[in-house]
Amino acid sequence: MKPLPTKQVQQFLSAPEKIIEQFPILQQKIRGKRLVYLDNAATSQKPRCVLERLSRFYREENANVKRGLHYLSERSTLAFEKAREKIRKFLNAKKSEEIIFVRGATEAINLVAQSYGHSQLKAGDEIIISHMEHHANIVPWQILCQQLGTKLRVIPINQQGELLMDEYEKLLNSKTGLVAITHVSNALGTINPLKEIIHLAHQQNVPVLVDGAQAVPHLEVDVQKLDCDFYVFSGHKLYGPTGIGVLYGKETLLNAMPPWQGGGEMIRRVTFEKTTYNALPHKFEAGTPAIAQAIGLGTAVEYLSNLGLSAIEEFEVELLRYATERIQEIPGIKIIGEAKEKAGILSFVMDDIHAHDLGTILDQQGVAIRAGHHCAMPVMGFYQVSATARASFALYNTMEDVDLLITGILAAKKIFASSTTPRINPGACGATHKPC
Ligand code: ALA
Repeated sequence: MKPLPTKQVQQFLSAPEKIIEQFPILQQKIRGKRLVYLDNAATSQKPRCVLERLSRFYREENANVKRGLHYLSERSTLAFEKAREKIRKFLNAKKSEEIIFVRGATEAINLVAQSYGHSQLKAGDEIIISHMEHHANIVPWQILCQQLGTKLRVIPINQQGELLMDEYEKLLNSKTGLVAITHVSNALGTINPLKEIIHLAHQQNVPVLVDGAQAVPHLEVDVQKLDCDFYVFSGHKLYGPTGIGVLYGKETLLNAMPPWQGGGEMIRRVTFEKTTYNALPHKFEAGTPAIAQAIGLGTAVEYLSNLGLSAIEEFEVELLRYATERIQEIPGIKIIGEAKEKAGILSFVMDDIHAHDLGTILDQQGVAIRAGHHCAMPVMGFYQVSATARASFALYNTMEDVDLLITGILAAKKIFASSTTPRINPGACGATHKPC
């Protein structure tokens, strides 16, 4: 028998309006219809507490951090460092020095590729990634390979969208310099068995970077329990502002790495002959940081922790289960990504409607999904599709949102059943498609 939802999860199931009302953007109508926002893997909406924190920062505290001796500068520095501490707690990192503010997951991976890569790897070394990576966890390594002569090795996946762990074990060898792996696939929803992946890599003394961009909004993450060496994520997918993200790294590794960018604040002393660098985390934060955004992100993680990540996870698993069941009732739908362990992402293709056309028709009904390759072209290649339609869930979505998605898909099928209806977006990569 299925276990009953916990008390904490009841807050989502029995009174979803109480959650929804915390998100002002969801109160509006889109094309005369209630907004059903199911594009959360691209970016999530922001709760009122985050919006108010950003506004309060600019109204009452705005000053540059760590530079001035005046009152406002002290206040903004305090708020900025408090945010770092909130994120440390959120990830359960040992020290706040291990939390580096960056622009987003992409920048964090580029930082590690360039700083760790150039200082610790050499020609002939191998970097292991997987077939389900986002472009952000492929291209920075390819650039490094071109610069250094290192080689990229790719863990294959099966039709369900799960890693072939036997193949992973075979790829690990004395030349392996780093494993860079996604926690949750943005295109498939697969949750990867991180503990095992990290354990196997560590047996060979290989460090592991985890792309957590699609995991932190859905799962409780404890970097000490995982024992990962680097963990990266973006704030805007985590109910926080754009332009801010986090690189967590183990202190010993970060200390051994050279700075990635030079400028103000990352230095201790500068002369024309020689510059000495600041301590962690400042060594990796050149220039004025995204101060308001970091503070806003601190508020977002506090908001999530108060709701309870395990309750969010339990609720979203229920939503995904319901959506998967309902979508399978529709003839001609194929789900892309059927791993046993999945977070709130539902990718699919239809026999009779291109994903872009479906996205356009759903939009007319106020339902926002994403259609495209989701910056994961190798995944599309594996399934031999040019694009999928993707509904991705957040804590403010409801069972009714799923019903409206299904109603919208059925309406699209009706439109396309009429033979006289021209396709809206012809071809595999229609006009609305933008590479990323
Ligand atoms: N990487 C983001 C997505 O999956 C933009 O939609």
